[in-house]
Amino acid sequence: MDQEFIALVVSERSEGGFERSVTTRRLADLPANDALIRVRYSSLNYKDALSATGHRGVTRRYPHTPGIDAAGEVVESASADYKPGDEVIVTGYDLGMNTPGGFGQYIRVPSAWVVRKPEGLTLRESMALGTAGFTAALSVHQLRRHGVTPEQGDVLVSGASGGVGCLAVVILSKLGYRVVAATGKADAGDWLRQLGAQEILSRDDVRDSSGKALLKERWAGVVDTVGGEILATAIKATKRGGCVACCGNVASPELHTTVYPFILRGVTLQGVDSAETPMPLRAQMWCNLAGEWKPSPAAFEAIAQTVTLDGLSPMIDAILQGRIRGRVVVDLGG
Ligand SMILES: NC(=O)c1ccc[n+]([C@@H]2O[C@H](COP(=O)([O-])OP(=O)(O)OC[C@H]3O[C@@H](n4cnc5c(N)ncnc54)[C@H](OP(=O)(O)O)[C@@H]3O)[C@@H](O)[C@H]2O)c1
Repeated sequence: MDQEFIALVVSERSEGGFERSVTTRRLADLPANDALIRVRYSSLNYKDALSATGHRGVTRRYPHTPGIDAAGEVVESASADYKPGDEVIVTGYDLGMNTPGGFGQYIRVPSAWVVRKPEGLTLRESMALGTAGFTAALSVHQLRRHGVTPEQGDVLVSGASGGVGCLAVVILSKLGYRVVAATGKADAGDWLRQLGAQEILSRDDVRDSSGKALLKERWAGVVDTVGGEILATAIKATKRGGCVACCGNVASPELHTTVYPFILRGVTLQGVDSAETPMPLRAQMWCNLAGEWKPSPAAFEAIAQTVTLDGLSPMIDAILQGRIRGRVVVDLGG
């Protein structure tokens, strides 16, 4: 079978720079992995925008189809675990990095990357969550693993109107935490309150440049999606025994801190890596997201907008400029 399909392809221009186009591809263009999947939905993550603009730390070789998320049906698989027609999710690993990703109607990946879609989610809902929702779930899991409970106080979410941030707000508030959302978008307050945030702060409110090693204890837990000075400030203001889940770097990959929050308050700085999450934890997180942690229909409606491949390019520019609110689902056609 060597069917044609369409995909967003990012190519290097001979005169320099990168261009994107929706192009016809063939199944024979895909790598020789054992699971062929017809992608119905994908989603846009910050990392996809980096891949789509030639970021060599994400994608080494071009032409390339980004898309670190995909949900659809199995067409072929060498694994006894899957049969044609099974609905599955693939996120992370090398998908969309140096393996052609979910911004195409077909992917061919190792079966070991595939997660069976839980009953409680539709394919579209699974991509409204996507890597962002999965990462938010992992971050919440880490706070709970380190003993952060709703009784201990407020949880700060930075970059709160972004994909990871808004889904962290939804999950934490569903679990009974008092969520404080930090956002750079002056008009996102009502939307974040609707998703479950109890208090809204500006980026300046959560950025301290006093040079102090410790600040007044404020946060029982933190989900930080931005890095840099906001992360450093959050660590300094975390309560004794609290935990900071560090999962992103849109503001900066740098972190300037002292050891004092760690040795005087026992604060934990917990990294979150969604791409290589081992399969048992991966399956558990998807199960949570399809059950107790699942956003309400109203939250899904408020968070996710849908585009086709033809409408994706402007969204890629918008996410790089921090202009997207919530999640962008990519509809690959029925
Ligand atoms: N560790 C992992 O496994 C993992 C997985 C997924 C994503 N990530 C990372 O997590 C981060 C967020 O990803 P995402 O997909 O949620 O991206 P996103 O949808 O673009 O959200 C990022 C949000 O950060 C805020 N922001 C943007 N620029 C900023 C700046 N200069 N300073 C402070 N805040 C800024 C904005 O929210 P406000 O306007 O509300 O402030 C923006 O909406 C990215 O760095 C991504 O690479 C990591």
